[in-house]
Amino acid sequence: MTDRVDIPGALTSALRDARHVCVLTGAGISAESGVPTFRDAQEGLWAQYDPLQLATPEAFEENPTLIWQWYRWRRELVAKAKPNPGHLALAQLAGLVPRLTLVTQNVDGLHQRAGNTDVIEFHGNLFDDRCHAEGCIIDSSSSQQHGEPDVPTCPRCGANLRPGVVWFGEAIPDVALNESFAAAADCNVFLSIGTSSLVYPAAGIADIARENGAIVAEINPEPTMRAASYDFSIAANAGVALPKLLELLAA
Ligand code: OAD
Repeated sequence: MTDRVDIPGALTSALRDARHVCVLTGAGISAESGVPTFRDAQEGLWAQYDPLQLATPEAFEENPTLIWQWYRWRRELVAKAKPNPGHLALAQLAGLVPRLTLVTQNVDGLHQRAGNTDVIEFHGNLFDDRCHAEGCIIDSSSSQQHGEPDVPTCPRCGANLRPGVVWFGEAIPDVALNESFAAAADCNVFLSIGTSSLVYPAAGIADIARENGAIVAEINPEPTMRAASYDFSIAANAGVALPKLLELLAA
């Protein structure tokens, strides 16, 4: 992948005229911050595990210690990571358009650290602890440690705590789902960035935007199967394409 990227003039114009821009991001936007994506090979210690097999309630019930080890590894990795030019460009874009709704499937908090406010965390947040029995978010400083090694427990009911993310087979929180769908239906331009668009319901949000007349563009170095049905497909890294887009918008 080179640093050369062509941004269609019609996309820049649509963004200039947009009343409401909705953006959906996936793991690819954080790849340039050193956070591994889900469907690329893992490295080192975790190379032997399929991340998709670890992100399930069944895996947690079977081996909570293993799941916590994996999530602690991810917390440490993300805590050391910094927002990259793609994240920073999206934070700037929010200041250039009348309204921007940012929906992320990422649980890493890098959009907020880049300066975006009002981020819809579709799959939760890596740094939250949640009671596996009651579902409530627990302040991690009050979680307790007994029972299984390395598995914190709920100070209210004693059940195991789990990371506050959405796993396969689990429902998206109602507020995140409803707000995302409403934003997609209302927006004039929809950007799908760094996602394989394979996991529903997130993968269906672009369709809602299209069906309601929005211009839809994808930014991904490996155009997805869905790209052909979008108005624009920009085959580039987000950290290259988004700053270029901002440069054109500001010109
Ligand atoms: P994936 O790992 O499925 O896809 C990452 C996408 O990012 C791929 O299409 C890559 O081509 C693309 N990509 C890689 N580097 C990029 C870059 N520098 N700039 C732009 N794009 C780049 O990740 P997601 O689509 O986010 O859910 O996965 C969706 C969900 O599946 C995740 O939220 C997670 C996972 O299981 C749950 O845990 C519920």
